[in-house]
Amino acid sequence: MRFDEFFVREGRFVADDVTLDEMASRHPTPFYIYSASAVRTKYRLLKDQFPAFDICYSLKANPNPAVCRVLAEAGAGAEVSSPRELATALNAGFAPDSIIYVAPAKTAADIERALAAGIYAIVADSTSELELVESAARKLGRPARVLLRINTMERQPEAREVMVGGPSKFGFDEERVVAEAAGRELKQARIAGIQVYSASQVLDPAWLAEHIEYVLKLARRLSREAGFKLECVDFGGGFGIPYGENDKELNLGLVAAMTQKSRDEFREAEPGCRLVFESGRYLVAESGVFVTRVVRVKESRGRVFAICDGGMNAFARPVFMRVRHPARLLNKLGEKPTQEVDVCGPICTPLDCIAKGARLPQPEPGDLVGLLNAGAYGYTMSLLDFMSLGRPAELLADNGGLRLVSS
Ligand SMILES: Cc1ncc(COP(=O)(O)O)c(C=O)c1O
Repeated sequence: MRFDEFFVREGRFVADDVTLDEMASRHPTPFYIYSASAVRTKYRLLKDQFPAFDICYSLKANPNPAVCRVLAEAGAGAEVSSPRELATALNAGFAPDSIIYVAPAKTAADIERALAAGIYAIVADSTSELELVESAARKLGRPARVLLRINTMERQPEAREVMVGGPSKFGFDEERVVAEAAGRELKQARIAGIQVYSASQVLDPAWLAEHIEYVLKLARRLSREAGFKLECVDFGGGFGIPYGENDKELNLGLVAAMTQKSRDEFREAEPGCRLVFESGRYLVAESGVFVTRVVRVKESRGRVFAICDGGMNAFARPVFMRVRHPARLLNKLGEKPTQEVDVCGPICTPLDCIAKGARLPQPEPGDLVGLLNAGAYGYTMSLLDFMSLGRPAELLADNGGLRLVSS
C-alpha cells in the first residue's frame, strides 16, 4: 500500500504539500482528496514497464475531469463507456485517436457520436453491433476501426470480477467468433483487432503474464482465420492494487519479464500493431482518500461506533462491493491504534458502515477519518443523492496547490 509514500510527511497527512488543516479549513467534509503526483507516479510505473503499450485510462474508475486531465497530460489515452465519458475525455484533452469505446449496450446514436469525434476504435460485442458500426460509418461517410471483444476460454484468475469463461453479455464467444465475424460485408467499418478484458483487481503476476500471452496468440490466430489485418490488440486491464493492510503490491516488473519473449516475437511478426492496456484502478485508486468527520462516538453492547458526516452515501464502495478499505484517523496519524471501531455514516440503515472493526486510536467528535485507496470506484459508485445530504466535494492537490474539482 502506497499511502505512506503518497500522503504522509513527517507523520502528518499531506497531499502534494497541502496539509490536512488547509484542506479541512477550506472545504467542509465529507470530501475526496486526490493527489496529482500520485496519479502521475502510478501512470509512470505502468508505462515504464510496458513502454511499447498505449495506456488507456478507464474513465469509469474516476471520471473527475481534473483527474482525467492529469492523465491526459501524462500521455495516457482513454477508454470510455458512454457518451458522457467520451465528452469528458475529449474536454480533458485526450487525443481523439487515443480513445477506445467499450460498452455492452451501445446505441446507434452512441456509435455515431463516437465516430464523429474521430476516436481510434469501437469495441464490438456481437455481430449486430458490428452491423450497427457499419451502418453508422456509412451514414457519416467515414471509416470505422472495430475491435472484436472476445469472451475467451483462458484460465480464469482468482479475482472477484471475472468477465470471461462462461456465458457472457460481453463479447464474442471465442469458439464462435471466426464463424460469426468472417466474411461480413463491411464497407466503411473494418475489423482491426481484438479486445479482451477478463478480470478486475488481479494481483497475480503469473496470471497476467499468461493472459498477455494468450491474447497475443489469439489475436494472430483470429486475424488469420477471420481474415483481417491486425492493427491493434487491446489486452484490457485489471491490474490490481493492495487494498488490505497486508496485501502485496502487484509485481509488474515480473509480468513484463515473463512476457518479454512473446512480446518481442509478436512485434517482429506484426510490426506497427498497436498494443493497448485499459487501466482504471491501478492508475487512480491509491491516489485518493475519502475524508469524513466524526460527529458522534458511542459505545453499544461492547462495540465502539464513530458516526460520521459521510458514509455510504458518499463512499458506497466498502458496502456495495464488500471491500475493506483501510481507515486512519488522519489528524492522529502519530497515535497508536488502541481499539476496534465501526466507522459509520449518517444513513438510516445498519448497512451504512464503511469500515467495520477498524483499528484506530480513540476517536472523538471532530476527528477526520480517512478511508484509503478511494480514488477509483469511489465517488462514481456512490449513492450520491440518497437522503439529500449533498454530494461530497472532490479536491485535487497538485504541487502545493489545492483546487475544488467537483465533477
Ligand atoms: C472494459 C473495461 N476496461 C477497463 C476497465 C477498468 O478496469 P480496472 O479498473 O480493473 O483497471 C473495466 C472495468 O470494469 C472494464 O469493464
